Amino acid sequence: MSPKFRRTTLILSGLVCVASVSSSLFAHGNMTPQPVDTHTLPDIGDEWRKVNPYRDNAEAAKIGESAYGQNCARCHGLEAMSGGIAPDLRYLETGDSGDEWFINRFQHGSAHDGKVYMPPFGDVLGQKAGWAIRTWLDTKHEE
Ligand code: HEC
Repeated sequence: MSPKFRRTTLILSGLVCVASVSSSLFAHGNMTPQPVDTHTLPDIGDEWRKVNPYRDNAEAAKIGESAYGQNCARCHGLEAMSGGIAPDLRYLETGDSGDEWFINRFQHGSAHDGKVYMPPFGDVLGQKAGWAIRTWLDTKHEE
């Protein structure tokens, strides 16, 4: 693990814990981002894509399901069914513009009024993991 990764992880877990103090409902699951093994997915370079390069890729969906369970479910709910703490990701728009919105949130998280609502995942998990999660979420989509 590179020193940069470790430092970012520390900062990130700090942020998540701050967020968790504001609601004890966040208390399930591990607070440290869990690494995602994406080596079986095609490489897509370092530049962040705006459109999901793995759309409909079954292997990506499988990796995404587990990555979601480890990193997102504690706020967004098991199986992407939100318990109300964070938006229900089954209703995210599909297609290209939904992809762009999704990856922007994944990469940068969400903070406003001086509060972190969602920590950023871009540096710690990388875009391959992000797009794998998006691919799995597409399989759970509801109108
Ligand atoms: C600490 C809790 C927390 C964790 C962990 C978390 N999120 Fe979020 N997420 C939120 C909250 C809260 C919002 C709403 C942000 C806002 O209203 O500004 C949000 C918003 C989003 C949105 C935008 C939803 C919309 O309808 O606009 C996406 C996409 C998203 N999260 C994806 C993820 C993914 C993927 C993960 C795991 C890698 C994740 N989140 C982990 C709390 C979290």
